[in-house]
Amino acid sequence: MKRNKTNNVGKADKAPLPATVTDIPEIKPGQSVALLQELHILTRDGKLNQDSRRKLKQVYHLYQFIEPLLNDVVNDKGAVSLVDHGAGKSYLGFIIYDLFFKALQDGSHGNSHIYGIETRDELVQRSRELAARFDFPGMSFLPLSVAESTTSSELPATIDIVTALHACNTATDDAIDFALKKQAKHIVLVPCCQAEVASVLRKNKGQSLGKSALTEIWRHPIHTREFGSQITNVLRCLQLEAHGYQVNVTELVGWEHSMKNELIIATYKDLPRRRPADRLKEVLDTVGLQEMGHRFYTGAEAAHE
Ligand SMILES: C[S@@+](CC[C@H](N)C(=O)[O-])C[C@H]1O[C@@H](n2cnc3c(N)ncnc32)[C@H](O)[C@@H]1O
Repeated sequence: MKRNKTNNVGKADKAPLPATVTDIPEIKPGQSVALLQELHILTRDGKLNQDSRRKLKQVYHLYQFIEPLLNDVVNDKGAVSLVDHGAGKSYLGFIIYDLFFKALQDGSHGNSHIYGIETRDELVQRSRELAARFDFPGMSFLPLSVAESTTSSELPATIDIVTALHACNTATDDAIDFALKKQAKHIVLVPCCQAEVASVLRKNKGQSLGKSALTEIWRHPIHTREFGSQITNVLRCLQLEAHGYQVNVTELVGWEHSMKNELIIATYKDLPRRRPADRLKEVLDTVGLQEMGHRFYTGAEAAHE
């Protein structure tokens, strides 16, 4: 049966919305129009312009990957916990809450929770206010770095799903570390620009260049930067595989304008670790990144075949 669309404005915003709002076919049934306005996905007068239509398409595209992961955990455990790292204005967390968690809170899965981790205090405060206004009790926002959150007593010992969408630079690596320590079943990463590996490639270029013709891949400065960014994600994938995860890498459609449109989804399957661990080590050796081993070659590999 087709569900009716509601404007679902939340406690705070009871003002009637323009008639055009309910006519927008892009908005999913039951989705809060007022929330989309607060997140600047809809304009203040409740309309979709070209920019916001693109934004909404991007968010739905990402949500389409996350929804089956949420269902997987809920079907298995009855409730789901999700941590979003480098949350920013938390639009991903709010959209996920609105589209998925809201129904759980109303039903029998009241222990489900979303945590937003963000260093910028003003963004944390704003998200807290928004969650209170929309009466989303299953959302918390913590003014912590990703690394700090890993040992914070404000978070549970285990977390089901970890997301990090354009978390700056090495915050993505900290999110991976967090997810491994919290035994996350699913990890969803859209990495941001990453400069650290490129800087090590640059530093070691003198020694590396004579060794193999393949070092041509990062000889020129622009290539050093781009290859550094790409190899960072390759190493992250191998790191996750070396911890027993199945990894899929795809593209976020609608983000073509950005170089940062790589979507990495990892699901824990307790897969054999030896081969990805060996590969990881070999890649680090081959491209002269041995000194970064501590970052990517993170231990659990050795414990299992
Ligand atoms: C590019 S924004 C992305 C925000 C949001 N995920 C999105 O996609 O709209 C990156 C956010 O990560 C936060 N951030 C950067 N490094 C962080 C860290 N180590 N721990 C927590 N947050 C961090 C920044 O303050 C910023 O709000």
